[in-house]
Parts: sequence; C-alpha cells; structure tokens
Amino acid sequence: MSQPILEVDDLTIEFQTGESSITAVSDASFSIEQGEYMGLVGESGCGKSTIAKALLGALDKNGRIVSGKILYEGEEIQDFTEEEFNEKIRWKEIAMIPQASMNSLDPIQPISRKALEIADAHTDLSKSEALDRFKEAFEIVGLQPSRISEYSFQFSGGMRQRAIIALTLFLRPTIVIADEPTTALDVIMQDQVLNYIKKIREETNSSMMMITHDISVVFETCDTMTVMHSGQVAETGPVTDLYDSPTHPYLMLLQDAFPDIRYPNRDLEVIDGYPPELTDKADFCTFVDRCPWAVDECSQTAPRLESVTDRSVSGDGSDSTHKVACIRKDEVPQLNEERKRQGRTTADGGSDEGDLP
Ligand SMILES: Nc1ncnc2c1ncn2[C@@H]1O[C@H](COP(=O)(O)OP(=O)(O)OP(=O)(O)O)[C@@H](O)[C@H]1O
Ligand code: SF4
Ligand SMILES: [Mg+2]
Repeated sequence: MSQPILEVDDLTIEFQTGESSITAVSDASFSIEQGEYMGLVGESGCGKSTIAKALLGALDKNGRIVSGKILYEGEEIQDFTEEEFNEKIRWKEIAMIPQASMNSLDPIQPISRKALEIADAHTDLSKSEALDRFKEAFEIVGLQPSRISEYSFQFSGGMRQRAIIALTLFLRPTIVIADEPTTALDVIMQDQVLNYIKKIREETNSSMMMITHDISVVFETCDTMTVMHSGQVAETGPVTDLYDSPTHPYLMLLQDAFPDIRYPNRDLEVIDGYPPELTDKADFCTFVDRCPWAVDECSQTAPRLESVTDRSVSGDGSDSTHKVACIRKDEVPQLNEERKRQGRTTADGGSDEGDLP
C-alpha cells in the first residue's frame, strides 16, 4: 500500500460557546491516498464540515484543534499559520467546494475575476495562464470555456455549482473536498453534477473527499468511505467491504435506512434516538444510547478503530484498511443476522427480501 497523501490522526476539535465548549470531533482518524475518492458520511452535526475546515486551517474563529495531527504528504500541518496555509495548502494542494456554496459567487463580478484573484493570491501564474487553466476546468465540468467571463446570475443553479467546482479544480489541487456538492440541487442536476465529479476523476489526478448524508452517493462514486457518529469515526475502509460487510452497528442500521437494490421490497428503517452533545472528548462510544447491542463497557471506554477480519475474503481474512470502532465488532455481524431473521420473517414464514441481482 502506498503512503497516504492525507492522514488525520486522533483529531479532536472543540468550539467555545460562551462559558462552555462543545466537542465536535473526538479522536477521529482516517487517511486518503493519491487518486482515492473517499466519502465522509454521517448524520447532521456529526462533525463532517468541521473536519473539512480543519484540513484547510479554516475553522470558525471559536474553534480549535485540541489534540491530534493532520499530515499532508507526511508533513504535520495542524499548527500551520494562516500564511502557511495560504502559501502551501489552500487551493493548489487542498481545495474545497464549501457546503451551500451554490449562491456564494459574487453576482457583480465575472466568474473569471474570482479565478484570477485566487491565482494571484496563491500562485505565480500569469493572467493568461490562469485563464487558460480556468477554461480547461470549465470544460471538464461541462461548461463552455467561452463563458468564463459571464456573471453567476447568467447561470442556472446546477451551472453555478459546476462553475464553483471548476474554481476548485483549476489550480490542479491534489485533494478536492466536496462538502455536500449536490444537496441544494434537484434530482436531475444532482445526477449531472455527480457525473461531472466522475469525469474529474478520469481527467485529473485529484483525490476527493466527498461529504454527504447519502451513503448511496458514496457507494456510486467513491473507493472508500468513512462513517462518523457524533464526532467519532465509527467505520472506515473500501466501499465494497463496507457495503458487503458493514461491521459497526450504526452503519448496519444506516444501510437499512436507505433503499438497496438487493432488497427492493424491504421497509426502510429509522434509527431511533439522538446523538449526545459532547462537552468534552468522548470517553465512551457515542452510539451507546442508540445501539441495540450496547453493553455496560460501551459507556466506560471510547472504542478504538481496529482492523476488521473481512468475512468475505478467504486466506487469513485480514484486511488492514477496513477498520471499525466497536468493542463487540466480532459478535455484531452475527447479532445483526439474527435481528434481520427475526424482523424480516413474515407471518407465513417467508422473507420479504428480494433475490440478489
Ligand atoms: N462555529 C461553531 N460554534 C459552535 N458550534 C459549532 C460551530 N460549528 C459547528 N458547530 C457544532 O459542531 C458540531 C459539528 O458541526 P458540523 O458542521 O461539522 O456538522 P456536519 O456533520 O457537517 O453537519 P451537516 O451534515 O448538518 O452539515 C455540531 O454540533 C455543530 O453545532
Ligand atoms: S461499542 Fe457498544 S454501543 Fe458502541 S457500537 Fe459497539 S456495541 Fe454498540
Ligand atoms: Mg456540514
């Protein structure tokens, strides 16, 4: 396995709110390799955008990294100053499509002006080199290069989102962070933007961290996935492993909450309860109040991410990239099978699951 381009290692982030503080991210760890597309998923408020902003040194003013490391190409960047982030990281190494950014373009300046401002602040490119690159990026996202000098109000919502994606791409960053890139779009536009995100992968060497609530988008677009629950990383690894062999109870229940073509007649489930509000780094499993298989120990210690023995692989079965943070990881798959058998067996003894495609 090659050296990860980005490593997040036991990262804890808190926000000061008046007299008190909240811990938004608690000992989170994951990594991304060159060219990898990773989906970061989890319900609202679990810390996804906070991690994304920390990677760019752009936490809100009341936020701070309490402990842990962020390594970019092996170098620790979590303590970089604003100047160092500007000079070494932002836009040309890591670029972000921020959440709800579709309407963030300045309506009174041509889109190309924004590109020139970014190029001027972060590179030595000449004006014409920057504009040529911006035209290339426009083409990748399916916009006519001749339209770079238009104003955002001349574009539809989906086109504006693609123009923002072009802005994040044109300095050829190593990692693109897309924070809910399709959420504000209608279904047709969502599909279109996702298709262009797939095209970016064919035409650039960028890695991507795609943040979304929708695990089906990750299954469709990404190589790997990291699942968070209330500031903690619950499970991480190759998408196929997490799809075929989910191991953390939260991911198991999450999968049952989304449509799955393998089980077309299945009722979608709801995950009851709420995540806890953390005032400190969690020293317990944050899923404990919602987990059907919680035991006393789950409230007494924060589970560490550990390798899963991949049940679908023969040989020694050990897959070091599929990791889960659950103290009952070896029992939970069996317990879930039993739950499904009980829950899905209909009155006449039949099952409501469809055949595997
Ligand atoms: N500036 C801030 N001050 C105080 N609390 C904050 C601040 N920014 C985020 N938080 C809190 O940190 C937690 C994580 O927020 P974050 O925006 O990272 O969640 P998210 O996973 O991106 O959610 P969503 O899917 O809704 O975008 C939440 O509890 C949120 O209320
Ligand atoms: S550690 Fe305990 S509460 Fe947390 S997911 Fe595993 S079994 Fe459930
Ligand atoms: Mg967010």
